[in-house]
Amino acid sequence: MAQSIAIASGKGGVGKTSIAVNVALVLRQLGARVTLLDADFGTANAHILMGENLRPKIDKALLADGSVQGALTTTSHGVTLLSGGSAAIDLLDLKKNDRLQLIRNVEAISDETDYLIVDTPAGASDATLAFVAAADRVLLVVVGEPTSFMDAYTILKAAHLEHGVRSFSVVVNMARDGQEARRHFDQFLAIALRFLDVELTYTGHLPMSTSLRRSVVARRPLMANAADANGPEGQAFQSIVQKLLKAPVNQPSGIRFFLDTTEKDA
Ligand SMILES: Nc1ncnc2c1ncn2[C@@H]1O[C@H](COP(=O)(O)OP(=O)(O)OP(=O)(O)O)[C@@H](O)[C@H]1O
Ligand SMILES: [Mg+2]
Repeated sequence: MAQSIAIASGKGGVGKTSIAVNVALVLRQLGARVTLLDADFGTANAHILMGENLRPKIDKALLADGSVQGALTTTSHGVTLLSGGSAAIDLLDLKKNDRLQLIRNVEAISDETDYLIVDTPAGASDATLAFVAAADRVLLVVVGEPTSFMDAYTILKAAHLEHGVRSFSVVVNMARDGQEARRHFDQFLAIALRFLDVELTYTGHLPMSTSLRRSVVARRPLMANAADANGPEGQAFQSIVQKLLKAPVNQPSGIRFFLDTTEKDA
């Protein structure tokens, strides 16, 4: 049964796409069939980080007629990409109905994918919240700055109060070390638990990393480079994925990526 994981942060530029791409590669390297949905429509860039010269395949007509299979791109990394590509102007103002239709249409690939990773847009727009609420698990990316905490908290609060999402995983990006990252998580946890009945799973941290930055510039994911994949960042990504997969599954009512939610805890 296919599972879905949304990656969100509220604040822009904190590493969502870098993490989404490398999480997808870790899962692929574990033998899973993985689809990466770049939900940053209009300004999609996951394909750039993966070194793919994508011809935009998602358009409004396709969202309506439901042929998700026809919109998939198989990347050289073995991960399948569902993306509108860059500069897709007609996707910039994707209407609510198109969005919900896309979420429904993803059901069509449930037999051919094990994990759907959803890279969501920055901000706490209705679009981001819809993708977060439609996913089984949510990975919030935070960095150690008050603005990041507040923006992540905005997503958490809206997803919880408006959509009934209760369980969130958290990764601290660009941390100096494990102790500092844990402190940041504890601060974020304290804010969340003071006001909301949510549960947070700490999946670990990624250091401020020259190899990660280099991999973005080179358009080759860190996990696709054997030396880096076995290095500290690669191990961090693997550990984050292991913890993420053990986090509780959300089952709020509303439109979900994959309909059958039974046996997802296995
Ligand atoms: N751990 C890290 N160490 C160093 N640089 C990083 C790290 N994580 C991300 N970056 C860099 O930060 C920048 C933003 O990363 P990325 O595009 O993944 O963020 P994003 O949250 O997806 O941004 P947006 O909100 O625009 O979609 C990139 O240049 C990336 O190389
Ligand atoms: Mg991004």
